[in-house]
Amino acid sequence: MSIILTNQLSIAYGKTEIIKNLDLSIIKGKITILIGSNGCGKSTILRTIARLLKPSEGNIIIDGKDIVQTCTKELAKKMSVLPQSQSIPEGMTIFQLVKQGRYPHQSLFQQWTVADEKIVDQALKSSGLTELKHRRIDQLSGGQRQRAWIAMILAQETDLILLDEPTTYLDIAHQIEVLDLLFLLNQKKKNTIVMVLHDLNLAARYADMLIAIADKNIYVQGTPDEVITEEHIQNIFNISSTIIHDPIFKTPLCIPHSHICKYGTLL
Ligand SMILES: Nc1ncnc2c1ncn2[C@@H]1O[C@H](COP(=O)(O)OP(=O)(O)OP(=O)(O)O)[C@@H](O)[C@H]1O
Ligand SMILES: [Mg+2]
Repeated sequence: MSIILTNQLSIAYGKTEIIKNLDLSIIKGKITILIGSNGCGKSTILRTIARLLKPSEGNIIIDGKDIVQTCTKELAKKMSVLPQSQSIPEGMTIFQLVKQGRYPHQSLFQQWTVADEKIVDQALKSSGLTELKHRRIDQLSGGQRQRAWIAMILAQETDLILLDEPTTYLDIAHQIEVLDLLFLLNQKKKNTIVMVLHDLNLAARYADMLIAIADKNIYVQGTPDEVITEEHIQNIFNISSTIIHDPIFKTPLCIPHSHICKYGTLL
């Protein structure tokens, strides 16, 4: 069953069309990863699904309802979004930021509760930020900041989570930590995760479905084995590669060729 459907979606900045007639279907309860070259439109698609951009044509259905007919708070209960870059709220602490994740769940009659407090604490703990929670966001490293945003999304407790390059700025250990955390959410709570990743090998390891974007539309989609082939990598990224099998995870591993060197010497 699809949790996100787009029908003939076209998106443009002014007169420049970025996406044309896109029919996207995201399966509920799965991890879907968007891949593609810089500037192909991955963030544009996510931002449009998150209603941060208005499509020039077509529509987006989330959970059976057109997002145009869904109020902001209702949407925020269904879907959380980590954009590629965020403006940093000046002076705000990690704790204050993560608390904001609970905003969609509050109302005039139900303000901050003990349950909210527990959820925020758990989100901080899962993101390894408990010790840092009173630190100001604008005084954190790039990786700590990224984890603070992820903690806010966890606190929002939505079934659907969209993340645009969530591992940017993270060292290899924290990349795995964040992807493991998302994997766990998917396995245990059946959250649907849609994210953009540039690391094809990690994308192949964590995705149920990969969708490669090129030429304003889906170039190819399917399981990692179906998508990560030498021919597809050549056509998507314009680079030759060798695909081998990860000896541990059994997923495809892409070894990009160099244009100029082989075994440490110039070709
Ligand atoms: N606000 C904007 N105004 C005009 N053009 C934009 C705007 N944002 C993005 N673009 C253009 O739209 C195209 C798609 O951008 P987008 O950010 O969606 O790419 P992307 O696939 O996410 O790339 P990356 O991998 O570098 O993040 C690019 O050519 C970009 O220059
Ligand atoms: Mg992007």
